Amino acid sequence: MLFFFCTGDSMLEKEFLEIIQPILKIEEFNNTKKRKHHGITRYDHSMNVAYITYTVCKNLNLNYKEATFAALIHDFFNTEVANENGYKRLINHPKIALKNAEKYFELTDLQKDIIAKHMFPLTIGIPKYKESLLVCLIDKYSSVNERVYSAIEDIKELPIIKDIIYQTR
Ligand SMILES: [Fe+2]
Ligand SMILES: [Fe+2]
Repeated sequence: MLFFFCTGDSMLEKEFLEIIQPILKIEEFNNTKKRKHHGITRYDHSMNVAYITYTVCKNLNLNYKEATFAALIHDFFNTEVANENGYKRLINHPKIALKNAEKYFELTDLQKDIIAKHMFPLTIGIPKYKESLLVCLIDKYSSVNERVYSAIEDIKELPIIKDIIYQTR
């Protein structure tokens, strides 16, 4: 489920896809489609964050190509450690995502900062670049939207709500 992917602007979408193409070829990244994240998949969440980053950074004349690329891999991890508590996972996953990303790509300082600091203020160190701060905010904005969307979808599946929807058609 992608909230923001369809803008109707095919030129924008073409450029966006060109930027992220190398990532989409990686099997380990595609495995994030199997991971739950904010009620949707980690893959869809990452696509949401990347596309908003692309449109916002492009409009602000920032380094949108590097920022979009890094935004797509900001949550690049498939390992869920069962005995790790939620808080520890929140703190640790940016480091895991960065390590995974560096297995495949030579990242710039800007991209490393985006991935490593996207959980600010939970992470140590403040975002060093405007793009890092934006991805950090976009990630939170997107997470809230995804959780609300997911909750509404769950409510729609309740038998009583299904009956109401059926009766009003
Ligand atoms: Fe994250
Ligand atoms: Fe995220």
